[in-house]
Amino acid sequence: MQTILVTGGCGFIGSNFIRWELETYPDLSIINVDKLTYAGNLENLADLTGNPRYTFAKGDICDRPFIDGLLASRQVDAIVNFAAESHVDRSILDSGPFIQTNIIGTQTLLDAARQAKLGRYLQVSTDEVYGSLGPTGLFTEETPIAPNSPYSASKASADLLVRAYCHTFGFPGIITRCSNNYGPYQFPEKLIPLFISNALADQALPVYGTGENIRDWIHVLDHCRGIDAALSHGQPGEVYNFGGHSELKNIDLTQKLLVALGKSPTLIRYVADRAGHDFRYAIDTSKATKELGWAPRVNFETGLKQTIEWYLGHRDWIDRIKSGAYRDYYQQQYGHRVTESK
Ligand code: NAD
Ligand code: TYD
Repeated sequence: MQTILVTGGCGFIGSNFIRWELETYPDLSIINVDKLTYAGNLENLADLTGNPRYTFAKGDICDRPFIDGLLASRQVDAIVNFAAESHVDRSILDSGPFIQTNIIGTQTLLDAARQAKLGRYLQVSTDEVYGSLGPTGLFTEETPIAPNSPYSASKASADLLVRAYCHTFGFPGIITRCSNNYGPYQFPEKLIPLFISNALADQALPVYGTGENIRDWIHVLDHCRGIDAALSHGQPGEVYNFGGHSELKNIDLTQKLLVALGKSPTLIRYVADRAGHDFRYAIDTSKATKELGWAPRVNFETGLKQTIEWYLGHRDWIDRIKSGAYRDYYQQQYGHRVTESK
């Protein structure tokens, strides 16, 4: 039986990845290491409680003895590192936690993985490391790194560490860079879940600047399938880009959400632009298609409709996050029954 150590598995993409992997591979075991920051929610994987192939270990990826202990206690075949501070706006307010988790945390995992002689390490990164595009063009794996926000600079730093470990030590690291994900379990601070939850409460939707900025949207399960393909078939030292081929101006997406929810466009509020706001992201996915046999499958209109339905069906999940009540879940559900770092 293969075992993967997944970090940040209580967040949006990590929780979708863990569920998808366990469903897809009946012989796979997963250890989920998560610090449970404001973005980590055990409720996202509550359905896995009691699953013998799933272990939760509360801990920090910067805690080397804790990571070493986990790697020593079990035969681990690979690490997939999702754990990160992930929100650009928060990084503008305070970059400290981004430097700590995204850079120091990655370095800690790399050293622990090297010492344990792990066969595979996958760093989940972002297209934001490439900076911003103008109205035309696509990011390829050859596009120079030019991050513009403290978040993307911290992710780029981590990518460069992975690259350097591959080059210097022959480390079996792979980097994946993906565009904006949407889907179930996304923390309602990112555009889509924030605007859905605000609209449901008849609160204003704060559109930054002119709303003309463009993002490429990919369904989270297409991203998960990409990570899985890179983990299974990717070459050490290589980078693979994933995207959804679904570019949209923020204002057009906002209007789509309002129409789908049957809410009035008068909820739209144009607010001060984000500092250093990247204009456009778009991805050339031909390398992933050619070398991994991967392509996005979820049509954006269908995926968005399903996502809206998910949030409509999980209003209690949104309410518990907005009230902070989800943090109590850990104590209630797990008490002292999980491994914890000091
Ligand atoms: P998220 O903010 O929803 O989840 C992050 C998770 O990491 C949380 O569960 C949190 O508790 C955990 N965490 C944070 N610091 C930790 C630490 N020091 N030790 C252990 N766990 C810690 O993020 P997400 O949107 O699921 O993103 C996951 C990864 O994918 C990140 O690395 C992000 O940079 C990358 N990514 C995200 C997107 C996107 O659109 N959301 C796109 C491309 C890449
Ligand atoms: P976000 O979901 O924060 O992802 P990222 O910054 O990583 O792309 O934002 C997506 C886009 O939506 C981005 O152009 C910023 C914009 N945005 C708003 O206009 N208003 C908001 O309240 C938020 C959170 C984002």
